[in-house]
Amino acid sequence: MRMPRVVLTGLLLTTVAVVGPALPTPAVAAALPYQDPALPVATRVDDLLARMTLDDKVGQMTQAERKVVTAADLTSYRLGSVLSGGGSAPSPNTPAAWADMYDGFQRGALATPLQIPIIYGIDAVHGNNNVYGSTIFPHNIGLGATRDPALVQRIGRATAEEVTGAGQDWTFAPCLCVARNDRWGRTYESFGETAELPSAMTTIIDGFQGTTLDGPASVLATAKHYLGDGGTTGGTDQGNTQISEAELRAIHLPPFAAAVDRGVGSVMISYSSFNGSRLHGHKYLITDVLKGELGFSGFVVSDWAAIDQLDGQRGFTQAEVVTAVNAGLDMLMVPTDWKTFVSYLRSAVQAGQIPMSRIDDANRRILTKKFELGLFERPYADRSYASTVGSADHRALARQAVRQSQVLLKNAGGVLPLAKTGGKIFVAGKNADDIGNQSGGWTLSWQGGSGNTVPGTSILTGIRSAVGGGTTVTYHRDGTGIDSSYRAAIAVVGETPYAEYSGDRTGSLGLDAADLATIARLRATGVPVIVVLVSGRPLDVAAEVGNWNALLAAWLPGSEGAGVADVLFGDHAPTGKLPMTWMQSAAQQPINDGDGKTPLFQYGYGLTYGTATR
Ligand code: GLC
Repeated sequence: MRMPRVVLTGLLLTTVAVVGPALPTPAVAAALPYQDPALPVATRVDDLLARMTLDDKVGQMTQAERKVVTAADLTSYRLGSVLSGGGSAPSPNTPAAWADMYDGFQRGALATPLQIPIIYGIDAVHGNNNVYGSTIFPHNIGLGATRDPALVQRIGRATAEEVTGAGQDWTFAPCLCVARNDRWGRTYESFGETAELPSAMTTIIDGFQGTTLDGPASVLATAKHYLGDGGTTGGTDQGNTQISEAELRAIHLPPFAAAVDRGVGSVMISYSSFNGSRLHGHKYLITDVLKGELGFSGFVVSDWAAIDQLDGQRGFTQAEVVTAVNAGLDMLMVPTDWKTFVSYLRSAVQAGQIPMSRIDDANRRILTKKFELGLFERPYADRSYASTVGSADHRALARQAVRQSQVLLKNAGGVLPLAKTGGKIFVAGKNADDIGNQSGGWTLSWQGGSGNTVPGTSILTGIRSAVGGGTTVTYHRDGTGIDSSYRAAIAVVGETPYAEYSGDRTGSLGLDAADLATIARLRATGVPVIVVLVSGRPLDVAAEVGNWNALLAAWLPGSEGAGVADVLFGDHAPTGKLPMTWMQSAAQQPINDGDGKTPLFQYGYGLTYGTATR
């Protein structure tokens, strides 16, 4: 829901000298058809398109990054969209400052002759994670472990409210990648390794978009990254997916078909290639399959400066613009060189390299979503949702998602759940008291970061809150100080934050030396050791897990770490199921359900309390 504005009519209102009794205020002249919300969207689009110049149309297809564009630029170049790259935030980083920034850009857009509002894109991929104070939900790999599409839809709704509360109207989510090789740095952005699990979790789109796009707090969703980003050889980010078309269709396409069926408003193209052909130039997969076969009627947006990669050279050329737009790209994320893009696209059309029919199709798709979102009637930030940012209700929902995402992989002798009262518990590990580590990448910054980065509850704080009187909880990062007097030791270990190719792991997939040393120090006392893995993927722990009394996969829980303690102390019996096959060895990668390899724990595995404990 956006805030209304005064619609300047199509006819110029003039002030007349009034003599004698005041003339009745001149009725506001009838708005132009495209400005009339009573008309069908298709009619409004047709009317507006007929009024647009080539510059208007080129501008609508251009998306620039907030740091390198001004409101005046939006007016001069008639740009259609602005984005925040990961971590690109106003200062101060508050919902009000975000809304002020949004409204400032919007005023620039509405100062154009046709007053076409912008749409503002942001990576709200696990909550509205760029905005300080937002609820940080578990990353998708943990949500896949819940096997709860209804819960995921509720998370989409909560996130939509927090996005709206900060003034934005479009999220570059959900990632519907099917992660097939755990070496990939974006494995945690995947709901799971099968076509079925991400397909089931497209309910998040209903959460984002609501029952109607102009409904309260509805924001546009983005199915990404089309197509096959999770299936590259070696799990290389932005790499080459070398499989048959039949495998591509069976494994990677179904989540996008499900998203289209749910009316997803946009689709983002993958940096990766399919058998050597870059997706950003793939007319068959974009135009014939996505738009034709699947009937996708929203708009297709490029990834960040992705057209630069089409010819393998730095920067982009007019030829690359032609290739991408003729392949079916509708909006180009050209974050910094947007002026060059505008010039190239205009020239390409004037030179007949891109038919006007393609330009009109792209504009029709973009404008249709802007009309459906209600942006023409209510283009300004709806600040009434600002109070939902980081709200207690949303944090409670996130904590529930954390609880449901925990996967219990080992529980020797039923050591879990731990008693809440009596004795001493020792907590160790670099991820026990670090909200940044438990949130992972795409948290306040692109790569995320260690430390007390966002408001929330660390796993350690959750543990301290869970225990009753008479129980003492001692924490030391590396386990120093433990002795045999403790009744249990909890080692919260795993990975530190990363995003995209920074998270690709071509070597070991095991725990780092510090974590191994910490666990060894705990084990040396003979105290039962419970390992809690905070990671964006399964890790290679087969050689060590036999020495552990319990193993709990916590994934990347986000700001509400108390949900982990809820499981450790039995307030919630673990219900999570593996969304990814768990390797016996990194040498097995890729290893996936049904491929004939023998895993350590199979896809769908997960213990609860009171059952077999392995
Ligand atoms: C990034 C990611 C994409 C994200 C976009 C905008 O490179 O690949 O998932 O939505 O750029 O931040």
